[in-house]
Amino acid sequence: MTPVELVRDGAPSRDEIVVRRARLSDVDGIAALVQEWAAESLLLPRSAGEIVRAIDDFVVATDGRARVLACAALREYSPSLAELTSVAVSRAAHGRGLGRLVVCAVETLARMRGHDAMFAHTLQPAFFAALGYEPAERAWFPEKRARPHTLCVQRTLTADEQPFAAAA
Ligand SMILES: CC(C)(COP(=O)(O)OP(=O)(O)OC[C@H]1O[C@@H](n2cnc3c(N)ncnc32)[C@H](O)[C@@H]1OP(=O)(O)O)[C@@H](O)C(=O)NCCC(=O)NCCS
Repeated sequence: MTPVELVRDGAPSRDEIVVRRARLSDVDGIAALVQEWAAESLLLPRSAGEIVRAIDDFVVATDGRARVLACAALREYSPSLAELTSVAVSRAAHGRGLGRLVVCAVETLARMRGHDAMFAHTLQPAFFAALGYEPAERAWFPEKRARPHTLCVQRTLTADEQPFAAAA
């Protein structure tokens, strides 16, 4: 697969990818992407209205035509802990590093907000393991109402990791 070229300045061409905080103009693209995987029970569904209300918590990867290829979101669990949610990559863009990029961008957002750690409930623990997440006990997050068949993973966010500028 072609590695993703990350562009931070200027207008991207059709083949270029930008990873950034989400905007209201991304809502329909995010909703469609999440729904694509919610239909396969891999993600929890989120309505367009829910995404609008949480738009400041989303990051997206877009192509040169501003189409949303990937998204991920942060949900505050406590002042020190954040949940990683709605991690989704368009089927046609799998395996090009976009999942890693949007997770990295949400982690940067979490650090900016003062969170020390992130957790997720997922059916894709091997993806999260590749990103440095470790198995966690569901009981560590008692206020999270997760689907019973998901696995829990978590990662400590260290301050010395290189921040991802595009998430700022
Ligand atoms: C899981 C998902 C987000 C991965 O996105 P992606 O862009 O294909 O992943 P990346 O290319 O960034 O891969 C990053 C790393 O994870 C690994 N990886 C990706 N998907 C994997 C999987 N299903 N199983 C095991 N490892 C996986 C890659 O090999 C890569 O590892 P490496 O860097 O050591 O080579 C994508 O498949 C998806 O959207 N799935 C449907 C929705 C979903 O399940 N979301 C997660 C639930 S919370």
